[in-house]
Amino acid sequence: MKILEVNALVKDFGGLRAIDTLDLVIEQGQILGLIGPNGAGKSTAFNCIAGVYPPSKGDIIFSGKKINGWKPWNLCKNGLARTFQIVKPFSSKSVLYNVMVGSFVNTDKKDVAEEKALKVLNSLHFEDKKDIKAGNLTIADRKRLEIARALATEPKLLLLDEVMAGLRPAEIDELVQIIQNLRDSGITIFLIEHIMRAIMALSDRIVVIHFGKKIAEGIPEKVASDENVIKAYLGDEYVVS
Ligand SMILES: Nc1ncnc2c1ncn2[C@@H]1O[C@H](COP(=O)(O)OP(=O)(O)OP(=O)(O)O)[C@@H](O)[C@H]1O
Ligand SMILES: [Mg+2]
Repeated sequence: MKILEVNALVKDFGGLRAIDTLDLVIEQGQILGLIGPNGAGKSTAFNCIAGVYPPSKGDIIFSGKKINGWKPWNLCKNGLARTFQIVKPFSSKSVLYNVMVGSFVNTDKKDVAEEKALKVLNSLHFEDKKDIKAGNLTIADRKRLEIARALATEPKLLLLDEVMAGLRPAEIDELVQIIQNLRDSGITIFLIEHIMRAIMALSDRIVVIHFGKKIAEGIPEKVASDENVIKAYLGDEYVVS
């Protein structure tokens, strides 16, 4: 069953076409990876899907409903959550407080919100840091907090925008494991990532975009050896013919 369908999506910023007639589908329970060189339009695609920008053209269908123009908070209430490439916690507040902000999407009761937040922190092996101010966290823990806050909204579909950037190899391995556990718990995941080792290990399928257009799609092994993908990343001279 398709949980998300993007049909002929276009996003223009003035004269710049950041997303150009993009089609993609995510099957429920799967992990779809989205890759492409810097400036390819990956975050813009997420921003259109998550309601930050209305599409210039095209349709976005989530759980069978057309969601063009929906606001982020309504999408979140309906089970579509995302993280931001640039993390934005409430720095002077505790980790627990920041995660509870996510829980309040589904309840207005403080104790229910706290219980949900603690459960999420537990699942991310993060409960020992619940009283630390978010502004004092390491980059790895800020990324984890960003995921925790999104998870506290109880998403069906989770959009993760470069949650591994800036992490050490051991931290990446831990996050790969966490994302696999989330998928196993029934959450569908749409993942933007530059760290190839992680995206190759996690993705059921990968979509590659370049200048806003899809240039390749398929299982990780197929995409990694695709001529257009190698050209986009490394230039013509690296294609083995
Ligand atoms: N709000 C905006 N206003 C104008 N141009 C924008 C805006 N957001 C993104 N762009 C432009 O759209 C293009 C795609 O940017 P986007 O951030 O989606 O790329 P990306 O694939 O996420 O890149 P990166 O890998 O560096 O995160 C870029 O040329 C960028 O400068
Ligand atoms: Mg980006």
